[in-house]
Amino acid sequence: MTTNDERPDRRGLAAIVMVCIAVGAAVIGVTLSLVERPAAEARTTPVVATEEYGRRLLRETPELLGQDHPDPERRMIGNRLACASCHLDIGTEPGTLTLLQTTEHYPRFSGRQGTQTDIEDRINECMQRSMNGKPLPMDSPEMIAMAAYLRSLGSQYAAMGASSKKAAEPATFKTPNRRADVVMGQVVYSTKCVACHGNDGAGLLATGDVRKGYLFPPLWGPDSFNDGAGMGRVLTAARFIKARMPLGKAELTDDEAFDVAAFINSKPRPEMPDLEKDYPDKSLKPIDNGYGPYADPFPQDQHKYGPFAPIDDYYKALKKAK
Ligand code: HEC
Ligand code: HEC
Repeated sequence: MTTNDERPDRRGLAAIVMVCIAVGAAVIGVTLSLVERPAAEARTTPVVATEEYGRRLLRETPELLGQDHPDPERRMIGNRLACASCHLDIGTEPGTLTLLQTTEHYPRFSGRQGTQTDIEDRINECMQRSMNGKPLPMDSPEMIAMAAYLRSLGSQYAAMGASSKKAAEPATFKTPNRRADVVMGQVVYSTKCVACHGNDGAGLLATGDVRKGYLFPPLWGPDSFNDGAGMGRVLTAARFIKARMPLGKAELTDDEAFDVAAFINSKPRPEMPDLEKDYPDKSLKPIDNGYGPYADPFPQDQHKYGPFAPIDDYYKALKKAK
């Protein structure tokens, strides 16, 4: 395999020490008085930054990095989603939110960060937003393992035949030219989603054990993604829902996907601080970004629910004029 398998031990140890210094120093006082000391077993389990560990981190995120982890230093995510709650089949399903082609996308300029970014930076964006958590230190075994896993998917994709790539392409979403209808979205939700995601959008825990996370993940509330996450944008959510939900069926029309996405995103969820600092150049904000400020005259409600065509036209005209 790659060099990733050869180098983890020393780097892993160094990284653990770094995490201890960075996080430990800040929380140690509180930790000692408030939290049980981690079980000796949890502290001594060797962590090796392999692709396989990376794969497990994406699938068993709540168990390995959740708030219920016996070792306080591993409590990196703030909700109980798994990366694979959105990146289906641990990112190996082609199409919407696939991670098969991630390697091709980096390094790249991120409008949200206003800087050049790499795969590791992007992982931390999902850590802080989709997972409502903390960024992983760049040389932690967890970061090295996740990035190694994502890089390994690239070769998996290259090996797939053109016909299987095409067959796996999900239905595309075309944005309806109107404001999303939250009331209609609630109707869609209660007929097509409620059986798995629950009446109050709180999902269903696996085996009733919080540490293992959810069998059916929550769509809003304290264990969901925060308001700075990509899934919090109505068009991103609608594209995912049209392509993937209800799980195993994906049978919604564009209108239904649009409305139910708006319904979900009208509900309360964790709030991310300092969102106004995102997109140093505000004209680079996606048109369906639900939080201001904006570089255009359209109200926040329209950025959140549409209609989007007028905003799209505004930026197209601006670009043309330049
Ligand atoms: C709530 C849903 C959700 C969860 C959970 C989630 N992500 Fe994401 N992720 C997204 C969305 C949405 C995008 C961006 C799609 C876009 O920009 O259009 C994304 C993008 C990414 C990308 C960039 C993909 C590319 O090809 O450019 C990476 C890498 C990534 N996520 C990794 C992770 C990791 C690792 C975790 C767990 C720590 C995670 N994500 C958890 C929703 C999620
Ligand atoms: C048969 C059960 C089932 C149904 C019905 C269903 N989902 Fe899901 N949904 C899941 C599962 C399971 C996941 C997580 C993916 C995984 O674990 O493979 C998921 C993930 C999601 C996610 C991303 C993760 C998150 O927590 O935000 C969204 C958004 C979502 N579903 C929306 C919907 C919507 C909207 C509907 C109705 C149109 C729907 N789902 C119907 C089972 C279901």
